[in-house]
Amino acid sequence: MKIIIINGPNLNLLGEREPDIYGSETLDQINDWILNHELCKDLDIEFFQSNSEGKIIDFLHFNRKTSNFCVINPGALTHYSYSLRDAIVASQIPTIEVHLSDIYKRENFRKISVIKSVCLDQFYGQGKEGYISAIKKILEVKS
Ligand code: DQA
Repeated sequence: MKIIIINGPNLNLLGEREPDIYGSETLDQINDWILNHELCKDLDIEFFQSNSEGKIIDFLHFNRKTSNFCVINPGALTHYSYSLRDAIVASQIPTIEVHLSDIYKRENFRKISVIKSVCLDQFYGQGKEGYISAIKKILEVKS
């Protein structure tokens, strides 16, 4: 089973970016932790990060026939990107939304996710564990 894990704008700066909100680990450290997690042993996982909305959309298109599931933390694109929403629908890859922070306890603009209704589920406020919650959900759906 192939899973793509996508992180959007500014998530390349994890570790130095607002560590009080997002923690002190880098994206590479989080990705390594995910890969070494016992749940992920038999999974084919590919990571992708971009600060560009178009590159994320291209990545979804490119993987649409070969990926079984997508886990995405779209960063701020979450709150306004209708093109990302359309790409999730168009690619037909079942997708789960993840946020490190609790977007419902922050600024009002973060409470809106334009992709939530086209995703299988949404996890937030669990830090890096949110990615594992998403993978657990995938394994549930798959069985
Ligand atoms: C985020 C929350 C978004 O509001 C923010 O723009 C991010 C990170 C999170 O993981 O908590 O870049 O998606």
